Formats: sequence, C-alpha cells, structure tokens
Amino acid sequence: MSVLVTGVAGFIGSHVAGALLARGEAVVGVDNFSDYYDPVLKFARLKPLREDKGFHFLEADVADRTAMLDLARQYGDLDRIVHLAAQPGVRHSMVDPYIYVQTNVMGHLVMLELARGLATQKEGGLKHFVYASSSSVYGGNAKLPFAVSDPVDRPVSLYAATKRADELMTETYGHLYGLRATGLRYFTVYGPWGRPDMSPWIFAKAIHEGRTLHLNHQGRIRRDFSYIDDIVAGTLAVLDRPPAAAGHRVYNLGAARSEDIGRVVALFEKALGRTAQVELRPGEPGDMPETAADIEGTTRDFGWTPKVTVEQGIPLFVDWFKTYNRL
Ligand SMILES: NC(=O)c1ccc[n+]([C@@H]2O[C@H](COP(=O)([O-])OP(=O)(O)OC[C@H]3O[C@@H](n4cnc5c(N)ncnc54)[C@H](O)[C@@H]3O)[C@@H](O)[C@H]2O)c1
Repeated sequence: MSVLVTGVAGFIGSHVAGALLARGEAVVGVDNFSDYYDPVLKFARLKPLREDKGFHFLEADVADRTAMLDLARQYGDLDRIVHLAAQPGVRHSMVDPYIYVQTNVMGHLVMLELARGLATQKEGGLKHFVYASSSSVYGGNAKLPFAVSDPVDRPVSLYAATKRADELMTETYGHLYGLRATGLRYFTVYGPWGRPDMSPWIFAKAIHEGRTLHLNHQGRIRRDFSYIDDIVAGTLAVLDRPPAAAGHRVYNLGAARSEDIGRVVALFEKALGRTAQVELRPGEPGDMPETAADIEGTTRDFGWTPKVTVEQGIPLFVDWFKTYNRL
C-alpha cells in the first residue's frame, strides 16, 4: 500500500513524505516545481527523498487530469492521499489570480476525482483523503481564537477563497461519493526547509543583511506560528485516523499560541546576533492582523498537541537558514 503526497517538493510536503518514508511507508510524490519561488530549493528538498527506495516521484501538474488519472493506473496500490500541492501566498493572489483558481480549485477537483475513482473502483477502496486548507479561511473574523465552528464565509483574499472552495467541494464529494476526507487548516508553518515568501525567512534575511524590516499594521500583528515537526506529527495523526464513515471533516493545526510579532522579531535578533532595523507601516489588503488556532477538537480526536515553542523553533530555523544559505 502506498500514500500519494502532492506538493512533495514543497515545504510541508517534503517533511510529510520524509516522515512517512521513515516509518516504512511507500510514497508516490507529485510536484510540478512551480516557479512561484526558486525551484532550486524544491530540488534540494527532494534529494534525500529520492535516495529512499520506497519513494517514487512524478513531475506533473495536479490540474492535469490525464496525468493524474494515469497515475491511479500506474500505482494501483494507492490507498491514502495527502494533497498539499497549491499555489500559496495571500499577496500573490492579487498579482496572478488565475493561477490560484487553476491550481487550488481545478487542481483540487482533479484530486477529488482521482480520490473518487480510487474509492469506488478499487478493492478495499481509498482509506483517506487528507488535504491542506488554511487559517486564511477565517478572514475578517474578529473572534479569537479561530474555531472550526466559526463562520468562514468572509475570505479577505482570493487565496483564502480558493481554500474555502476546496473545503466546500470536498464536503460535496464526501456526501455524494462516499469519500472519507479531512481538511487541515494550517496556521503559519515555519522551520527548516521553509518558504522564502514567508515571514520567518523574510525576517531572517533582512536582519542578517542589515536591511529594513517592514511590519504591517504598525507592528500590531499577532500570529500563531506552528513548527514544522508539530505540523507533520499532526498531519500523520490525522491521516492515520480516517472518519469512521464516509464524510468530510475539518480541523485546525496550529500552535494555539498567538505570538506578538515584536517578540518574534526579538527572537530572530537573538538567534542571528544582530539588531533589526524595523519600519512600521499600515496593513495591506488581504492581511490578517491576528491569527490564533483553537485546537481543542484536534487534541480531543487525535491526542495531538503542539510541542515546539517559538523560543525553541526560531533558533532551529535560523541554524538551518544559515547553513542552507552558506552564511
Ligand atoms: N506553510 C504554511 O504556513 C501554510 C499555511 C496554510 C496552508 N498551507 C497550505 O499547505 C500546503 C503546502 O504548503 P507549503 O508551505 O508546503 O507550500 P510550498 O509552496 O512550499 O509547497 C507547495 C508545492 O506544490 C507544488 N505545486 C504548485 N502548483 C502545483 C501544481 N499545479 N501541480 C503540482 N504541484 C504543484 C509547488 O511546486 C510546491 O513544491 C499548501 O496547500 C498551502 O496552501 C501552508
């Protein structure tokens, strides 16, 4: 039996695939090496995975129906899917909206069709379809922390709207076609092999180079920063426990600690041994000033709790950042 991991050359996907291989699972990985950020980082993440005999890689676009449905024929023993491929980033969705709908909506639909085919045609069926949603679906919600039961009908970015569309489409497929599916609303994930477009990388780079660091919302930002190892453990805990019956459910995966951005910058200064040049400015459209995860349901149903604090995680990220960038 094997697990399909899409977005396997990505930050979260490469870690999830590594953890699955480490526990002896066979993994089929898919990625199209999108050039949203430097694909060199994606090739580097994939290198250690390719050395494992249990890993098979296919360079393909998840929105390519023919390639994805062929994959089901090629790897007949797929029994679980972790669908993480996406066009991420809130701001870029104002620059190139079409790629968000193409990858996150059409790509998600193709994955649902693949899952439907496996669930209905294959003996034993597909055990579980797990996919990445995002804390961004909470949009302009004023109530904190964000709970899965909160309304999510006011996305403030197209990225968020595509992630919410994924949740709604999956709900329909659970209802109509007997899929067992779980959506994970990840909250600002960081750690080694992280993304260059996200704040931890941007902070580390600016502080190291002595360049000005811009903080939106006049610095009045709070974020739920989730360390990658916790997120991988949470993703696998969920993958291992599909819903008892056909259907769809959604969980938050976050640290459940909302950090003041000033304190986070101070931790970066300490880890890098340099002082940040900070400039405060107003919020940008699409930005959420605060995120905080209510993870009660995730802890209750999977026994999962995040363990790594920002005091521990930021130095670990900075160590990797310096090594990777040869600083
Ligand atoms: N990192 C976070 O903080 C965060 C937070 C919320 C949600 N998410 C979601 O988690 C998932 C993984 O995020 P990540 O941080 O690892 O991002 P990432 O960009 O590092 O990984 C996504 C991977 O998907 C690949 N990809 C993009 N378009 C594709 C396509 N059409 N076909 C095949 N592959 C494609 C990219 O090349 C990339 O390697 C995404 O769905 C993202 O929206 C991430």
